[in-house]
Amino acid sequence: ANIILLGPPGAGKGTQARRLVEERGMVQLSTGDMLREAKDSGTEMGNRVAEVMAKGQLVTDEIVIGLIEEKLSHSAGGGFIFDGFPRTLGQADALGALLGKLGQKLDAVIEMKVDDEALVKRITGRFTCGDCGEVYHDETKPTKVSGTCDECGSTNLKRRADDNEESLRTRLMEYYKKTSPLIGYYYHAGDLHSIDGLAEIEEVAGSIARILDGSG
Ligand code: AP5
Ligand code: ZN
Repeated sequence: ANIILLGPPGAGKGTQARRLVEERGMVQLSTGDMLREAKDSGTEMGNRVAEVMAKGQLVTDEIVIGLIEEKLSHSAGGGFIFDGFPRTLGQADALGALLGKLGQKLDAVIEMKVDDEALVKRITGRFTCGDCGEVYHDETKPTKVSGTCDECGSTNLKRRADDNEESLRTRLMEYYKKTSPLIGYYYHAGDLHSIDGLAEIEEVAGSIARILDGSG
């Protein structure tokens, strides 16, 4: 199945996408991860977008559509999980066109609903493993051994440059202004499923599984 995980910063898109990769062999396409990789590897595009991202603003449609187009040329057996893309109506149209060209379609758009207060707590407590990408939280998902990744044993645990209250405020504004119109867009296309993203990680995973298995 090809699905979109739609939701504000901190809704849990990345957390759930990683599980789907492990459990169902799906392929995660996170434009945020792709942009951070471009920045870490010091490419020209990476350097250009780093400042925009740190402030919490959206990168141009042209750049992110280009990144997705590159990845979509290889097909995925288990299907694609679009994580953090599309984020504008222009990106949504472009995704529809790209999938159409490949003879594929979207099977579900899953809106993860979380209120702003919870988002602040999630974002300010988040850290990730710089080696395997596992996502943690100081309170809701700490590592078993302090300072060491449970999955790969790395001690390279990092916090993101945009995970501070000020950038988060901009990210939320961008979400409500530019991304939330996609909820109506996909509702009218008949693809939208809304779930409670405030529930525990396991419960959210269960809601997504029911949608993918056709009983949600
Ligand atoms: P991106 O990397 O996509 O960030 P985001 O949308 O802000 O989303 P996050 O990664 O912050 O949150 P998430 O929903 O994945 O939550 P997570 O699972 O980590 O984008 C970053 C920037 O790149 C953008 O601001 C923009 O500049 C640019 N960009 C990217 N894509 C773009 C595009 N398409 N167009 C233009 N610009 C683009 O969870 C958060 C925390 O909560 C973690 O600590 C986790 O452990 C915890 N948690 C998760 N689920 C639960 C739960 N159910 N209960 C309790 N805690 C939980
Ligand atoms: Zn790790």
